Amino acid sequence: MERFEQAVAALTGRRHGVAVSSGTAALQLSLKALQVGPGDEVLCPALSWPSPAHAVRVAGAKVQFVDVEQDEWNSTAEALRAARNGNTRAAIVIDQFGNPARAEEIRDALGALPIIEDAACALGSSFTNGPCGSLGQVSCLSFHPRKILTTGEGGMCLTDDDDVAEKLRMLRNHGQLGGVFVVAAGNFRMTEIAAALGLAQLQRLDDIVLRRRGLAALYREALEGEVDLQRTPAGSESNYQTLGVILPQGHDRNAVLEKLRERGVEAGLLSFAIHKLGSFAGSNASMPMAEHIAARGLALPLYPQMRNAEVDEVVRTLRGVLNG
Ligand SMILES: Cc1ncc(COP(=O)(O)O)c(C=O)c1O
Repeated sequence: MERFEQAVAALTGRRHGVAVSSGTAALQLSLKALQVGPGDEVLCPALSWPSPAHAVRVAGAKVQFVDVEQDEWNSTAEALRAARNGNTRAAIVIDQFGNPARAEEIRDALGALPIIEDAACALGSSFTNGPCGSLGQVSCLSFHPRKILTTGEGGMCLTDDDDVAEKLRMLRNHGQLGGVFVVAAGNFRMTEIAAALGLAQLQRLDDIVLRRRGLAALYREALEGEVDLQRTPAGSESNYQTLGVILPQGHDRNAVLEKLRERGVEAGLLSFAIHKLGSFAGSNASMPMAEHIAARGLALPLYPQMRNAEVDEVVRTLRGVLNG
């Protein structure tokens, strides 16, 4: 486990890696380690898997939803700054689908406000000036089966802060510090078996990311102008954890998805407008871009073993459904 933690920390330029049982656990423990709790508010992009927003709720704090930008599908520095108020205690910044957030701009805009980077999808991606996983007080990774590197289930907190790392280690292990139970906490440990799986896959990470980028380039070349694609900020690099497309107006997304599946293409829903989920029933937030992407987005198949000809086939099938 320590070898896996050290290897991931080295890859992301961090002092500490604290392996945990999931990406969701990583987010929950990070908020706890930064002492976010009742009365606090936390900035959180409105487009995502629900984990970051749910983690804020579980901490007893209030979610301040922030919309995403139309090309990169991440929350901008301006939007985060504008949403901030006097109760804001932290900001969660997501590298959406592996696409790097504009880290420098966000750091400048938020000043001393603690940042938790949700890099669940972004291992192997890079900002203009460093790897994803290096932004803010704590960065969180996921090793869920759909992620670039998987341990079955698993996650990791990355930090440069010795005290935060100690708290995270204590919080993942029943609140024990030096054999003494100092706070009431749960068990969020990663197993040694999972860590061994992760360590082995780390050897192949560069090849996996390279292949994903190659496949994504083929998709982009073929689909540019026909659907909206996620843009990567200049000087940054995505690992293409997910190849998302936004369908043009006039197409029923769910019907397109069904037809793709009927024709053998395993596409999926892209993401969620979290403020619209049952878990946030009663929220009157209006996040037009998150709602647009959640309603019209599809994830197309992309995996390292995929052949170029299979990308052509998916593109042909999608075109057939859209034009047929
Ligand atoms: C942006 C984001 N954050 C957090 C998570 C949660 O990770 P896990 O499934 O390992 O709990 C996910 C999972 O898909 C995610 O996409």
